[in-house]
Amino acid sequence: MKYAPLKGVHDLINQDADDIYRIISLTSLCANTYGYTPIIVPTIESTSLYQREQKDSSDMVTKEMYTFLDKGNRSISLRPEFTAGVLRAVISNKMHTQKELPIKLYYQGSCFRYERPQAGRYREFSQLGVEAIDEPSIYLDLEVLLLGCAMLYRLDLDFPFKVKVNYLPSKEGRKKYVEALKKYFKPHLENMCLDCKNRYKTNPLRILDCKVEEDKKLIKKAPKISDFYTEEEREKVELIKDVLKEEEIKFEIDETLVRGLDYYSGLVFEYVVDNKVGDEVGSIGGGGHYDSLVEELGGPSNLEGVGFSFGMERLLRCYQELPNYMPRTGHILFSFIPLNEEGIDVAFSLVNVVRSFGHMPCSMPYKVKSLKAGLRKASNEKASYAVIIGEDEIKKEIVTVKDLHTGTQEEVSVDHFLDYVVSLIQERTMKMFDDGEKKKPKNKKN
Ligand code: HAM
Repeated sequence: MKYAPLKGVHDLINQDADDIYRIISLTSLCANTYGYTPIIVPTIESTSLYQREQKDSSDMVTKEMYTFLDKGNRSISLRPEFTAGVLRAVISNKMHTQKELPIKLYYQGSCFRYERPQAGRYREFSQLGVEAIDEPSIYLDLEVLLLGCAMLYRLDLDFPFKVKVNYLPSKEGRKKYVEALKKYFKPHLENMCLDCKNRYKTNPLRILDCKVEEDKKLIKKAPKISDFYTEEEREKVELIKDVLKEEEIKFEIDETLVRGLDYYSGLVFEYVVDNKVGDEVGSIGGGGHYDSLVEELGGPSNLEGVGFSFGMERLLRCYQELPNYMPRTGHILFSFIPLNEEGIDVAFSLVNVVRSFGHMPCSMPYKVKSLKAGLRKASNEKASYAVIIGEDEIKKEIVTVKDLHTGTQEEVSVDHFLDYVVSLIQERTMKMFDDGEKKKPKNKKN
């Protein structure tokens, strides 16, 4: 093969591409319902947006960025995540002074991280997520967490997912906790992995994130983050638990959840899928509250934020593994089968009439085919109806419409074809509505 995709990147084709668009449209509707509006930000930013003065020790920033000098010798990076870019856009465009608070945004697009490719881990991948910016409120944090759950419900991922939740104490408490962790890990450090040795120096909290079995045993016995909460923080954690119980969200308090990025404080969470695919791909999304990032990026000090991002490829894997997953069928409604050149002419004009009327997908070949080949094509397209136009039909100024599910067919005058199509769609819609009514309503989604 002359050209293949680069290592760690992939083409999404056929059903995968179709499902990605379905996921985007379903989750966008959800975001709209919660009052979030879309934002589109650049893929490239100045490297300093991610490598800020307040050193970020995350792997994402220290090891994984795609960074290069442009022709003007400026250091540019491909976005490894959205949060910093979205906040930059809010501040650059002074959205916080022009719009009512909170500013609530959703986004979707590619991110780039130079990671070792493996299941569910790519160098170019896609995220969809939200950011909400306002003065701090635990209710806004909860709104964002619940919006992520609503998106998963919308995708029918309701039964296997759960949310891992933790609360990172504020500066004072965190300082004391970090000291306690350092004291605890110091005598063991020699036998711990290289990453942990580095994290001990740069951000000891992130030792809790270590996946090495031997280190995990030590981490289990490490000081508990909850022992360092203030009374107010303890109350917030209780409120979080109460709301999640009330909303019937499956959750687990995980005191070792610190997330891979350095900007979090307060509520942090990850969405995980509790089955074999979930084990394979890791968390499907995560996020949390950030208290000083807005200010660090040049915004006002009273504004904080909260958000999450889902990894689209991981969502897709879980979505397609659902026991009731159905690839989208019947995408083409009408497959036209002209059996001679004149038939092509008639079909072309009918196809254009139908297409201009609205969302009634149809297809036609521009070369004459046999009836058998035309019906095979219609079946491959999973069309609902074949519209046959042969010599006889041309003479009578009609088309023959064949219902490909029942096999019945009828003659329809060319002049009244559009009326026929409209009444057919109305009939189908009524039937779908009746079928839907008969079904028992399902939990949360309704
Ligand atoms: P993150 O946990 O680094 O958070 O990434 C969010 C999600 O992106 C992950 O849960 C995962 O599904 C997906 N992901 C990350 N890296 C890869 C990869 N190499 N290949 C495939 N999928 C991947 C953030 O990015 C934060 N900005 C989330 C956030 C928003 N926090 C606050 N607001």
